[in-house]
Amino acid sequence: EAAGLAGTPPMGWNSWNAHSCAVTEADIRAAADALVETGLRDAGYEYVVVDDCWMADDTDDQGRLRADPADFPSGIAALADYVHDSGLRFGLYSSAGTRTCQGYPATLGRERLHAEQFADWGVDFLKYDNCGDHRNRDAVSRYGAMGDALAAVDRDIVYSICEWGQSAPWQWGRNVGGNCWRVTDDAVAKWQTSGDEFGLGVADIIDRVAGLDIAAAQAPGGWSDPDMLQVGNGPESGQSQHEPTDVERPLSNAENRTHFAFWCLLGAPLFVGTDLADCSADVLDILTNEDLLQIDQDPLGLQGTPDRRDGDAEVWSKRLRDGAAVALWNRGERATDISTHVVDTSVPTAGERYAVRDCWTGEAWETPGELSATVEPRDTAVFRVTPA
Ligand code: DGJ
Repeated sequence: EAAGLAGTPPMGWNSWNAHSCAVTEADIRAAADALVETGLRDAGYEYVVVDDCWMADDTDDQGRLRADPADFPSGIAALADYVHDSGLRFGLYSSAGTRTCQGYPATLGRERLHAEQFADWGVDFLKYDNCGDHRNRDAVSRYGAMGDALAAVDRDIVYSICEWGQSAPWQWGRNVGGNCWRVTDDAVAKWQTSGDEFGLGVADIIDRVAGLDIAAAQAPGGWSDPDMLQVGNGPESGQSQHEPTDVERPLSNAENRTHFAFWCLLGAPLFVGTDLADCSADVLDILTNEDLLQIDQDPLGLQGTPDRRDGDAEVWSKRLRDGAAVALWNRGERATDISTHVVDTSVPTAGERYAVRDCWTGEAWETPGELSATVEPRDTAVFRVTPA
């Protein structure tokens, strides 16, 4: 693949969390329009990705994928043109098995053929799932075959490995040409899930990533992916795939902030997964927060790591080209004062004073080293800290 692809974590919008298997080309056009109108495109969200369920029930007689004639009547090439004409890039989905997770035809064994189709259609990003029959091939073989096929076509296509962290893709994802690799099961629009429920909540995913201890695997060009954003979503959004119960509710503003703050601190790919036609000003403010986006897109490409996990109070930090980001997370149900000192974080500590900016409020001050905040339940304070 071309050098420099995904030099910072890829950003965009993906259909799955908002539309699930009901996605149509009209949804994709509307999402492209909304990315422009809301300013999300200009904030850096550039890939519009069609997830599962864009295919017809059968391939053509050569084994090529076909778009569903009812839901994607204009075809994929025309849809890619529309997205490109909006100043955006176009992403598509298939699976490293015989079928997609929703049962549509997929790519295993036809990597060259499909990679050529994707290139001809103008695809800039491929999300490559792990469903269908694997024909007894391991993940490295299956994902490697697609990596080789993408490298052979005459188009730059960002390669997103969606293997759910099952075979430690952080160890081989980069070698097979991957630009990002999922490290967990699917994120759902909840704070936490219980054992028998589908998917992982926001707090669950942060705990999983902390437990994996894979910060060293990530660098520009290849990113660990804790799954797409559920910011702005709740039980009504498409991906929930079940009727909401009365204990369920949309993610709160504090939960949305913690979700976004951590994905940025981790240097995660940022794929908005909410219906932009129905998106509050609070959610848009979170998704376009410039300080947090700079933390996500920092050129060093490091993954933030925990400095202290202490009951309800957690401190995480991420070294940046220019200083560091420090996050104070209150996991609990009542407002809490959380404090730390720069020497206990990733802040480079050459100086005697540090400039601090609160990423949510924009408030700025100086400190000799102490960092503290009163943090609301489930919320996260994030500071940018720079030696003064
Ligand atoms: C499983 C993936 O993890 C999800 O992100 C989504 O792509 C679905 N499959 C689609 O069926």
